[in-house]
Amino acid sequence: MNYLSDIKEILYSPRDIDERIQGLAKQIQTDYNGEDVVIISILKGSFIFTSDLIRYINLRLAIDFIHVSSYREGMTSKELIINKGLSSNINNKHVLLIDDIIDTGNTLKQVKEILTKENPLSIKTCVLYNKPSGRKVEMVADYVAYDVGNYFIVGYGLDYNEKYRNLPFVGILREEAITKI
Ligand code: PRP
Repeated sequence: MNYLSDIKEILYSPRDIDERIQGLAKQIQTDYNGEDVVIISILKGSFIFTSDLIRYINLRLAIDFIHVSSYREGMTSKELIINKGLSSNINNKHVLLIDDIIDTGNTLKQVKEILTKENPLSIKTCVLYNKPSGRKVEMVADYVAYDVGNYFIVGYGLDYNEKYRNLPFVGILREEAITKI
């Protein structure tokens, strides 16, 4: 079986994603109204989304990365581990925190809380996908490209066991692909 045949259905094509990201970038650019912004991308899932989004934002941006992982117990995210912290100072800066997906809400909520302690001037959040059906903690992202249903999606940065991140579209993984890895 080849890689692409593991995908049951394509939800968003590269063109869909590009158009939606341009719209989101325009909204962000308008809201920050010429202010400088520090973009903080949560690795690894958001690396493709971040790199595409920032190229449509005409503001003086600085970019930083934070790499976190969460130990999961069943379907619920638990403790957050910081594998790599920030390499810049965000004190008194406008911060836009970017992740690929908000599911239980644990990752974005906890990272936002950690960064808030660094006294940024403001902190907002931006996600490509919002999965409301997965929410376990109260967390609403300020910018959302898509609301998605309760599917197991991969591609455009999202993985299953570290595979499929490089697919240029977002698709639903076949059940057989989940069991064979
Ligand atoms: C994924 C995703 C989000 C998080 C969302 O990260 O990239 O950061 O889960 O889930 P939550 O809302 O339930 O916390 P993951 O820990 O799988 O790491 P990855 O980014 O390296 O894929």
